[in-house]
Amino acid sequence: MEFYHAALQTCRACRLETGEKVVVFSDSQKNPVLADAFYAAADSLGGEVVAVYVNAQKAPLVDPPAAAVAAMTEADLVFDMATQPWLYTASTRKILEGGARMLQFLVSDESIIARYPTPEISERCARLAARLQGEVVHIASDLGTDLTVRRGGRPVHYQDGAVTFPGDWDSLGVVVCAFAPVESEADGVVVVNGPVYAGPDLCYHVNTPFEMVFEGGRVVDIRGEGGDAARLRAYLEAVGDPNAYVIAHAGYGMDPRAGIQGVVDIGNWESYDGGINIAIGSNNIPQLQGRTACKSHVDAFVLGADMTVDGRPVIRNGRFVD
Ligand SMILES: [Fe+2]
Repeated sequence: MEFYHAALQTCRACRLETGEKVVVFSDSQKNPVLADAFYAAADSLGGEVVAVYVNAQKAPLVDPPAAAVAAMTEADLVFDMATQPWLYTASTRKILEGGARMLQFLVSDESIIARYPTPEISERCARLAARLQGEVVHIASDLGTDLTVRRGGRPVHYQDGAVTFPGDWDSLGVVVCAFAPVESEADGVVVVNGPVYAGPDLCYHVNTPFEMVFEGGRVVDIRGEGGDAARLRAYLEAVGDPNAYVIAHAGYGMDPRAGIQGVVDIGNWESYDGGINIAIGSNNIPQLQGRTACKSHVDAFVLGADMTVDGRPVIRNGRFVD
């Protein structure tokens, strides 16, 4: 029942109209109740719904079977519940270019139930993301964060967890904005006191805040007592690529329903309202238009901090300024 309510709200936020073709794409490792709920909700709103079910892929970024891609290419709206992400594949491009709008499901079942998209979230998200549209972004905190980055005209990319127009793509429960700073323009100190995430191999809550020191756009030192700083240092050393240390994006979460504690759920962490994201490593995706290619991308979160954009306060003590 909880899934059904979330499914109905999601269909409405994605502006499902009577007669639209909907594909619910799921696999052998996903909760079948989730797919059933979205099938029933889309059907009840007059969608022409088709369920496509495949064996789960063993690795990310693998194209789905051709018959599944064919069905999705014919759709107006795709609910992509595949266990492994396949965003950066030729199939995704083909489906979006065909005019489908596609919503990915990677957050936990709890997040789907608690943080489905709504028109109110979308409106607030657009309004708050617009505040990042400046040139000089400064982040500060009582713990000692003092970082300045420059946008250099790069786009501010934001997601509200809903898809509303042909070719639109988004991920349910991801309510975040960010931009890729100029690669040589990040200077100062970031004191990381929120989670650190780089995929299954590096994913933890920080118990002892530590410093990432940026000079000329790169992390030149990671300082801190205890294991939290050492874990990130060791991970980056193992990657063994100088690009792993380059600033990748800066931005913030905008979903008041998101929490930072509990199970690993990067969608929850990056959406945390007023939480600041600072990332290093790869950022050469079209949405960000960054220039760094790298096999790693590390997100680090700064909570309870301040942000100004061109001197205007946007976040104070972790809360958006009215
Ligand atoms: Fe990131």
